[in-house]
Amino acid sequence: MAVVLGIESSCDETAAALVTSDRAILAQRIASQDDAHRPYGGVVPEIAARAHAERLTPLIEATLADAGMALGAVDAIAATAGPGLIGGVMVGLVTAKALALAGGKPLIAINHLEGHALSPRLADASLTYPYLLLLVSGGHCQILRVDGVGRFRRLATTIDDALGEAFDKSAKVLGLGYPGGPALERLAATGNPRAVPLPRPLRGHAEPHFSFAGLKSAVLRAKESGEHADADIAASFQQAAIDCLIDRTARALDAAGTVSALVVAGGVAANKPIRAALEALASRHGLPFIAPPPMLCTDNAAMIAWAGVERLALGQNDPLDFVARPRWPL
Ligand code: KG4
Ligand code: ZN
Repeated sequence: MAVVLGIESSCDETAAALVTSDRAILAQRIASQDDAHRPYGGVVPEIAARAHAERLTPLIEATLADAGMALGAVDAIAATAGPGLIGGVMVGLVTAKALALAGGKPLIAINHLEGHALSPRLADASLTYPYLLLLVSGGHCQILRVDGVGRFRRLATTIDDALGEAFDKSAKVLGLGYPGGPALERLAATGNPRAVPLPRPLRGHAEPHFSFAGLKSAVLRAKESGEHADADIAASFQQAAIDCLIDRTARALDAAGTVSALVVAGGVAANKPIRAALEALASRHGLPFIAPPPMLCTDNAAMIAWAGVERLALGQNDPLDFVARPRWPL
C-alpha cells in the first residue's frame, strides 16, 4: 500500500491530504480564503498567492500530525502544477519540490482538472474506465470521456462562462455575496423555477457545447426590471442551468460511445438539484450515476493525492524542474 501527500493551491483553497492506494483518506485539511476575498466579490490572485505562502507549510505539518505520520513514511508528493492562478500554483508546486528533495521522494505534478476528473474513482472503487465526466466548476465547464490516467477525449466545453462562474455572477446580482453558488442554491429552494422566463443557450445544438453568458445577462435584466422576487429569479436561473446541462450532457452521451457510468465532478456538482437531474438522465440511459461527496467536489487536496496514487501505480513521476502551468488543457 502506498501513501501519497497531495497539495492543492490553484485557486482560493489551501489544502493538503494524505491518501492511500486503497482509497483511505488518512487526513485532509482545507483552509478557505473566502473571508480574504469576500470584500472584492471574487478571488484576487495576489491575495491568494500570499495566503497560500503563509498557510501551506503549517497546514501540511498539521495534516501529517493528524495522521500521526512523518514525511519519511510518505511514498510520493503530488501537487497541482496547473492550470490555475499562477502565484498560488507556484507556491504549492515549489513546496512539493522542496519536500520531495528533502525527503528523497518522487514528485508527481498533477493537472488540477485531472484531479477533479479522477476524484470519483477515489470515492467509488467500482468506477471503471471509460466513463463520461461532466466537469463543472468555477473555472471549467467540460464534458470528457475519461479513458484512463492522462487519457481524455474532450467532447464539449463552454464557449464563454463556466457554470460555476454563472452561479457566482448571478448570486452577486442578487446580492448573495461570495462565493455565490451554495447561497444561490439555498435561495432557489424557496422560489418558483417557472416564474421568470430565461433563455436556455445552445439547447438543441448538434455539438454538445455550453454557453452561459446570455443566461447570466438575462438574470441581470430580470433583477433590474424589479418585477420578480429574488427567490424566483434564483430558482428560474437554476432551472435554466439544469435544462442546459441535461440537454448538453444527453447529446454528449449519444456521441461518447460505450461508457461505464455518468459521472459529475467539480464544485457545481455539490448542487443537489443538479445531481438529482443528472441521476435521472443517467437512469434514462441505463447508466449508473456517480457523484463524489460534496467535500470531494469542491477544490481539495485528496483528489490531487488520489491522482498521484494513480500515476504512482503506473510508475510515473516528474523532474524537480517541472514548470508550473497557468494554462494546461487536458
Ligand atoms: O471546483 P471548485 O471548488 O473550484 C474551481 O476549480 O473552480 O468550484 C467552485 C465553484 C464556484 O463557482 C461555486 O460557486 C460553485 O463551484 N459551487 C456551486 C455550489 N457549490 C459550489 N454552484 C452551485 N451550487 C452549489 N451548491
Ligand atoms: Zn477545481
